[in-house]
Amino acid sequence: MEFTLEATSKNARACTIKTAHSTIKTPVFMPVGTVGSVKALDMEDVLELLGAEIILANTYHMYLRPGDETVAKMGKLHGFTTFPKSFLTDSGGFQAFSLSDISKASQNGIEFRSHIDGSKHFFTPKKVIDIQHNLGSDIMMILDDLVALPATQERIALSIERTTAWAKESIEYFRAKQKEGVGVEQNIFAIIQGGTDRAFRTKSATELCDLDFDGFAIGGLSVGEANQDMYDTVEHTVQYMPKDKPRYLMGVGTPEDLIENIERGIDMFDCVMPTRNARNGTLFTPFGRLNIKGATYKEDNTPVDSECECLTCKRYSRAYLNHLFRAREITYFRLATIHNLHYYLNLMREAREAILADRFAEFKAEFYSKRG
Ligand code: GUN
Ligand code: ZN
Repeated sequence: MEFTLEATSKNARACTIKTAHSTIKTPVFMPVGTVGSVKALDMEDVLELLGAEIILANTYHMYLRPGDETVAKMGKLHGFTTFPKSFLTDSGGFQAFSLSDISKASQNGIEFRSHIDGSKHFFTPKKVIDIQHNLGSDIMMILDDLVALPATQERIALSIERTTAWAKESIEYFRAKQKEGVGVEQNIFAIIQGGTDRAFRTKSATELCDLDFDGFAIGGLSVGEANQDMYDTVEHTVQYMPKDKPRYLMGVGTPEDLIENIERGIDMFDCVMPTRNARNGTLFTPFGRLNIKGATYKEDNTPVDSECECLTCKRYSRAYLNHLFRAREITYFRLATIHNLHYYLNLMREAREAILADRFAEFKAEFYSKRG
């Protein structure tokens, strides 16, 4: 992968990441396509209506169903789903931890039961790389050891120790496989852990950033801590991350979270928020969130956001969306998802423009002033 840092505005960065499948301009928000589909959309929507250059899929889900070997036979993620741009795949550690009824991390990996049929599985650092080779993602993530916050100091220390040990095993295996010709066009990112403790984050970041990864993620945040704790942890951690490689904040967040963390030097984000909230009736606008279920919209003939250039806003009224939601019409999910993802992707495009013009602070002030 080719990485270019094009401009900075204080700590905010505008970069270009070139993978085998697309050129990604940062800051970037990656729509979540857990099972190889952005919920409610088809790939033409993702590609043509939204213009996404990268989406996220999950190792855990694709491994359990339909199976990574099936995906490999059907042309890997790109061939199977027909999305021709980049895929990032999460390693499965987080999903085993959050979705599985029973998940148990040990020195060698994570044992878990499938949330689909209860069957038992064991993920190791090498196994999740093998699976991600079968999936053919442009960027794969290492297996990491997550802890629920709040956690004891001992448990966080153990999580860091394990994550570093697994990262060493991962990078060695990944580079050896590349020498054999496997995964030559793929990239691998490590995941920094350490809760909200500065000393732990310093340790995790310095240990991992010393290794030959293509990029680095900050994990273990947005798990119930206060927003300011997340921002402070990111601000602290980025100091130990290289300037010449991508920085990815996993599972974050609200529009405010994106702006705050771009300001602190993050390049990449993913979150279920725009897609999940769309389906629940919450739509994002520059003026704040709007709950389309509300009776106030029953006869509101204006679009969700009159300045928005998405298909939904160009064509349909709040009244119509309110009706579709209440009637539980399937098309509601698509229209709402298109709008919310368009809002997120457009926010990233505007942030990038502001960084290129070295006016990110002004952009941030305008962002907050519109929300009142
Ligand atoms: N998604 C959100 N947070 C995390 C994390 O800490 N690790 C992994 N693997 N995925 C995540
Ligand atoms: Zn819109």
